[in-house]
Amino acid sequence: MDPQRFRSEGHALIDWLADEWAARRQRRVCPDIAPGDLTRELPSEFPESPQPGPAIDLAEWLSRGTTWWDHPGFHAWFPANTHPASVLADLVAAGLGGQAMTWHSAPASTELEAHVLNAFRVAIGLSDAWTGIATDTASTGTLTALLLARSRARGRVLASEEAHSSVAKGARLADLPFDLVPADADGAMNVEALGRIAAVGPVSAIVSTIGTTTTTAIDPVAAIVASQPDAWHHVDAALAGNAMLLPECRTLWDGVEGADSIVVNPHKWLGVGFDLSVLFVRDVEAMRAIMATDPSYLRTPFDALVTPRKDLGIPLGRRNRALKLWAVARVEGLAGLRARLRADLHRATRVADHFRARPDWRVLAPARLQTVVARWQPAHLSDAAADRANLAIVAALNRTGRHLLTQVSWRGRPIVRISVGALDTTDDDISVLLDALDDTVAEVSTLR
Ligand SMILES: Cc1ncc(COP(=O)(O)O)c(C=O)c1O
Repeated sequence: MDPQRFRSEGHALIDWLADEWAARRQRRVCPDIAPGDLTRELPSEFPESPQPGPAIDLAEWLSRGTTWWDHPGFHAWFPANTHPASVLADLVAAGLGGQAMTWHSAPASTELEAHVLNAFRVAIGLSDAWTGIATDTASTGTLTALLLARSRARGRVLASEEAHSSVAKGARLADLPFDLVPADADGAMNVEALGRIAAVGPVSAIVSTIGTTTTTAIDPVAAIVASQPDAWHHVDAALAGNAMLLPECRTLWDGVEGADSIVVNPHKWLGVGFDLSVLFVRDVEAMRAIMATDPSYLRTPFDALVTPRKDLGIPLGRRNRALKLWAVARVEGLAGLRARLRADLHRATRVADHFRARPDWRVLAPARLQTVVARWQPAHLSDAAADRANLAIVAALNRTGRHLLTQVSWRGRPIVRISVGALDTTDDDISVLLDALDDTVAEVSTLR
């Protein structure tokens, strides 16, 4: 591809993308297609000879097969939104290429990662005892933390029954036994139960979650750390860590300074496009002790001056993920980011108030962050009939194509879970959602 072709196709793609973003509000959140429909449209083999037309001939095809995470009606999982500045940053990072194995292999991105993650640390109110390391996902960060814990002491990994599945997976991959700790009614780890379970045998690590995936419950980190002072404490704040940009949210992770590692995903909710997760560790030397490698082909004269990023995690090379956090923070400013997060928190409060104002709805957990969980349970319905109704409500909303909710269960029963935080969602869109909820409940009621 000659430079002129790159220029003209690149400019056209940027225009196309901007148009797609402008149009996504009118689209279905999630395409109405079946698995395999898309693949059937593709030639089965690579072309033998160079093809005419643009390099990205699949743009329209991809768009038809996209679930729009920044659609105004996206309320599934947790937000993983992508600010346009983040897209530009990824383009530049990819265009300049390079891999930050060592300072020498990528000076700017090595320095930027350390610099930007330090600024992020300050922005979310962590002390200077922490060093941030960019990874792809919280799953990788948690696995890395468990490997660190294992290097200190072998034993079980303990986490609440509401912890994300990545914790059990991390323990499995680290070859550590995993025990679940019961959660209280609102989904937070029960510290007394933790004490009983910890007493049964050696503990390698305890993982607390700030903002569990189903209900955004908050484990009491300070009490957990105090209860088991000898264990490695990892805090999974994948989503909620971003809320710590708001000083009023910081009480949610009281005690976090007593932990050994924390994972926060700027790719959740902050607008930094997937993927950028940050693993904060206190003991960089412990990380180097298990991650450092020293073959002659990676040695450089600068290694004593700048810690090679390859020694701070599992991968050798790493792409420049920090640039997109820098770009988003620059364009929005911390004030802009805080305003957006606060607006989402306010919208979630509106959703919770909507449920509370209707006697047949039960809000199941405090809406401390941007997610609300509720169950429609009129007094005259059996639990089983209410189960079917809650499934039907979510299915009906999703069928419209204007909304997308994740079908989840809480304590074994289907519920309605609404996560707020897509970039395009406005207050008016929340009104549309709440009206749609009322209409759907009215329809479901007539079915019984
Ligand atoms: C609390 C929590 N931890 C970890 C994860 C895993 O995130 P990732 O996709 O970055 O591995 C999630 C994903 O939603 C999550 O909700």
